[in-house]
Amino acid sequence: MDRVLNRLDQTQNQALARLFEFIAVKSVSTDPAFKEDCLKAAHMAKSFLQAAGFEGEVAPTTGHPMVLGKYRSKASPDAPHLLFYGHYDVQPVDPLEEWTHPPFEARLLEDRVNGTIIHGRGSSDDKGQLLTFIEAARAWYEETGDIPLNITVLLEGEEECGSPSLDGFLAERAGELKADFALICDTLQWDKDTPAITAMLRGLASLEMTVTGPNRDLHSGMYGGPALNPLKVLAKGLGALHDEAGAVQVPGFYDGVEMPDDQLIAQWRASGFDEAAFLSDIGLSRSAGEKNFSVLEQLWCRPTIEINGMWGGYMGPGHKTVIPSKAHAKLSFRLVAGQEPGQVIEAVKRFLLNQCGPEVRVEFSDPHGSQAVAFDLGKPHMDVARRVLAQEFGRAPMMLGCGGSIPIVEVFERQLGLDCLLVGFALNDDCIHAPDEKYNLISFQKGTRAFARMIGEFGQKR
Ligand code: BES
Ligand code: MN
Ligand code: MN
Repeated sequence: MDRVLNRLDQTQNQALARLFEFIAVKSVSTDPAFKEDCLKAAHMAKSFLQAAGFEGEVAPTTGHPMVLGKYRSKASPDAPHLLFYGHYDVQPVDPLEEWTHPPFEARLLEDRVNGTIIHGRGSSDDKGQLLTFIEAARAWYEETGDIPLNITVLLEGEEECGSPSLDGFLAERAGELKADFALICDTLQWDKDTPAITAMLRGLASLEMTVTGPNRDLHSGMYGGPALNPLKVLAKGLGALHDEAGAVQVPGFYDGVEMPDDQLIAQWRASGFDEAAFLSDIGLSRSAGEKNFSVLEQLWCRPTIEINGMWGGYMGPGHKTVIPSKAHAKLSFRLVAGQEPGQVIEAVKRFLLNQCGPEVRVEFSDPHGSQAVAFDLGKPHMDVARRVLAQEFGRAPMMLGCGGSIPIVEVFERQLGLDCLLVGFALNDDCIHAPDEKYNLISFQKGTRAFARMIGEFGQKR
């Protein structure tokens, strides 16, 4: 093990060079203009896997390809089998003018709080984090000529746009993903010095709505007064979703929601999380969430409804005196364990239809959603992760909730019957999805070392 860890330390510059090269490929999955770049990133990821001794494959789907890697241990063919998941696609870079350096030209920078950081789109979400694992495997392979574990790697190219091709891919190839458990590196540490294991992950559902009032756009002088304005109707309906105390007013929305067990809540309470600092960092002073829950609880174990966009009428410069025929909104819901996405969406639709009243026509897009997952913390692989993270960081890991969503986790757990272990090394201030995304160099270093230790220890467990 020491030899593998030493090799990681000594070959850090090569690992960084690979990450820089990876970041330079503009694999923005949601924008068709970057289709070729996504393919290029997939091939690059395959070559990284091959360098780590894996058999690599770029597997076509109806959208961006999947990358598959397979390693079968030579010395311990009976070792456990791990399925590792990450995603090589990234979020769009806009607003580009807010980046202090170009997003696809990765570089090291010095940061007052974080020390050396790796700057660039995907440095943290998820190119840097997926390489954190592959580099650990590479060090084992280079140093010992083998990896003491059977590993299948699945790298997705559509995580950031809702995984549209995932079901089709699994229908054909789920059989090749059989494993003892899954490891996913796409989540947060607690802080820059303290590691974490994610104990629960929120689900995500989304819905688009269109409210039609008058049968055409109208002059607001000729019709204003009698004509019902769909923007007003939409605003009123959406405004009714929450009460003053931040609670969702949709009947049935909280059905089935359970609180995590007391031990977890107690750890979160004792964590010293600074709510005021969290809010002031984003320019706010008080939480808008449910009044009787802490900020961490609001983020990690309570469901939400958000309005992600609202539009209609005239939105260009200057004024136009119009009563529009149509008004639109995009909504999304973060779900927690116990909630069923389909039922939640139906309940919200019913509520909004009712709020908007009979004079308008309300249409909804085809909704889709992923369910939340709470993990069994008693599994042996959880113990290994806890022990190894504590060794590497000199501190016990925090057991976190995760406010974000990773759609494949639900699929692994429910469809493939795989227990998932979520260990990530991103930080709140990594600015994922935003300008100036970064990954702390120390997270990359300690993360690769922790994964190298995990690979060694998982292998010993028969
Ligand atoms: N890595 C994130 C999930 C995440 C976010 C983990 C914040 C930890 C903290 C993932 O890539 C992501 O962005 N997920 C999307 C879902 C997707 C369907 C667009 C999300 O949560 O919005
Ligand atoms: Mn991610
Ligand atoms: Mn993301």
